[in-house]
Amino acid sequence: MINTKPQLSQDFVKMIKGKANEGTYRVNVDGILIDVFPYIFPPESPFSESTHTVYDHFGRLNGNRVLDIGTGTGIQAIQATLAGADEVDAVDIYDKAVECADHNINLNRLEGKINVWKSDLFNNVPKKEYDLIIANLPIVEAKETDIRLHSLFDPNFAYHERLFQDSPAYLSNSGRITLCHANLQNQGFEKLEKIAERYGFIPNIKKSVNSLGYEWRNYDFISTKYTGDKKQ
Ligand SMILES: C[S@@+](CC[C@H](N)C(=O)[O-])C[C@H]1O[C@@H](n2cnc3c(N)ncnc32)[C@H](O)[C@@H]1O
Repeated sequence: MINTKPQLSQDFVKMIKGKANEGTYRVNVDGILIDVFPYIFPPESPFSESTHTVYDHFGRLNGNRVLDIGTGTGIQAIQATLAGADEVDAVDIYDKAVECADHNINLNRLEGKINVWKSDLFNNVPKKEYDLIIANLPIVEAKETDIRLHSLFDPNFAYHERLFQDSPAYLSNSGRITLCHANLQNQGFEKLEKIAERYGFIPNIKKSVNSLGYEWRNYDFISTKYTGDKKQ
């Protein structure tokens, strides 16, 4: 288990804690108004590079069924709906994030278009086939006991391990997982790709940008575990 947190994450935690003392605040995310509840991952801030790195590369989603895992403020689910997705489900492990996402769905008059509920990854997701799983999960591998900070930290990369392990049962035959990752830690990209490959996913780097002193990649992962219409 890695216990050293990158300076960028430590600064981000400081900002999140400082903002939490002020209560809920509103941000404008490319024209979408989002209220950020205390401790919820802000989709717009000096540190929030991953959020737009994901939704910038969805493309049009007409005809798609989408699951947003780790929805936070609900921003990816909202962007997916605006990109034309037919059905959008959104889950988060933290109940305050579920409340926050629900609030922002109403704020943007998208009630009835996005279902949001509490779930630790797929634990509370009924069996269904999705064309796109958005998983902008925490990207720093470090011990963290405070669930409010699980927007940043994935102890032992266990969430990513379970994401790739369980996703094949929830993906349609042409389905994909999309996420953002950064080389905030040694071998960060290699570790992620290795986990994905272990569960039969092929990584495809759609975009790479340098920002805040690191490389940020938008990945799509396609499962190789399909034989004709049947999954193995
Ligand atoms: C990096 S934030 C991303 C928030 C939002 N999707 C975005 O793109 O701005 C990660 C989110 O994943 C949630 N999360 C962490 N572990 C999770 C798990 N095991 N299951 C579901 N959600 C989880 C956190 O509570 C947090 O809201």
